[in-house]
Amino acid sequence: MAGTITFTMIKPDAVADGHSGKIIDQIIGAGFKIKALKLTQLSKERAEEFYAIHKERGFFGELIAFMTEGPIVAAVLEKDNAVEDFRKLIGATNPANAEEGTIRKRFALNIERNAIHGSDSDENAQIEANFHFSGVERF
Ligand code: CMP
Repeated sequence: MAGTITFTMIKPDAVADGHSGKIIDQIIGAGFKIKALKLTQLSKERAEEFYAIHKERGFFGELIAFMTEGPIVAAVLEKDNAVEDFRKLIGATNPANAEEGTIRKRFALNIERNAIHGSDSDENAQIEANFHFSGVERF
């Protein structure tokens, strides 16, 4: 059975551009419930840990610099089939390929500064939610 939670970050580009409220509104409008939410900033060490899977990629250094340049909005979201439905809502990694109306089509600048993260599996959703939130911050 598909899991009921996913994890998201509104990335520094979208937070700095003032899009957080519109993005959260679209997420809630699509039927997701907010189970945890905070404005926070990743340190270099925490960003490198979160993105460890990408450490051999050519874009890793730029990705870490980008993800630490300013605050992010981190959230845990609940909905049936959360991971898959949320990835449909945010659209393709590269906004040039994202469908009309998706969050990345609306707000992302390019493949790196792509406005929002969504977990890619139920297992990673749990790992990422636990990475960002303690038990008392989750509802
Ligand atoms: P996301 O899929 O949330 O997590 C990995 C991130 O790496 C991705 O979003 C982009 O922000 C970034 N990324 C992926 N591919 C590239 C690329 N080819 N060049 C630069 N950044 C990328």
